[in-house]
Amino acid sequence: MSPVRVRVPATSANLGPGFDCLGVALDLYNHYEISEADGLRISGCEDEYAGEDNLFLRSFRRGLEELGSPFRGARIHIAADIPIARGLGSSSACIVGGLLAASALGRGNLGAERVLELATEIEGHPDNVAAALMGGFVVSVAGGGKVETARAPVSAGLAFCALVPPFALETSKARAALPRSVSFADAAFNAGRAALMAAAFMGGDYSRLAAACADRLHQPYRAALIPGYAEVVGAAGKAGALGVFLSGAGPTVMAICEARDEAAFATRIAESLAGRSEGPWRLIVLHADNEGALLV
Ligand code: HSE
Repeated sequence: MSPVRVRVPATSANLGPGFDCLGVALDLYNHYEISEADGLRISGCEDEYAGEDNLFLRSFRRGLEELGSPFRGARIHIAADIPIARGLGSSSACIVGGLLAASALGRGNLGAERVLELATEIEGHPDNVAAALMGGFVVSVAGGGKVETARAPVSAGLAFCALVPPFALETSKARAALPRSVSFADAAFNAGRAALMAAAFMGGDYSRLAAACADRLHQPYRAALIPGYAEVVGAAGKAGALGVFLSGAGPTVMAICEARDEAAFATRIAESLAGRSEGPWRLIVLHADNEGALLV
């Protein structure tokens, strides 16, 4: 049987105020190739990820289990462009990729709704997996085993400038830094801005982005884990970003600007990224992916 190939986009979750419920898919991709085989062989990734614990494999096996299909063994090749533990959705790419591959190789098809439910169960929250699966801008809310979504395509006129620091931050550590409760005022602050962010993307009115990016639920607590965070956010604002926020759980900072200004933005921020005491930050200029994960 010929191998199954899946392409899954990177994502940026939260978009500032939309903790665990907003996400956008980006044109940076992981490719997974899998065929049934005796035993297990995983290539294309670091040795530490090439075993039974591999998240793509675990998600593939979870998908097969759901379909009642036995796992006999597999040969897997991973070509990953999404950096690991940088807040750009590398885990959700593995999860969505594994489930879609199971759907293609197993007995029957899981269906998009069930893939999203299972992906959310594995990831623990729906924002990254929903955007990776559906593409574009996605609002997602999980409850009672179901996931409710609302989606809008994102204009090619927006550039998502990922400012990637020279260190990783595990999502588990970034979530452990969050408080157990927040004030009513902070919750209300975020509810308004998350709604404004959704309205901006749903209506294609990106002039709202600056006001919509503010957050009091997670960024202030995570900033302490990210050396250089405040300076890089400040530099992105000065370089002309329409909006700046922590990408997912971080440590990447995402600056949105108009695509026609992306070269000027890159020039203006270059010096601030290069001369940092924690090491140079990288700029990766991305645009929205409106297709979502695909079998290729
Ligand atoms: N919404 C998640 C968080 C994204 O902020 O922890 C990271 O997976």
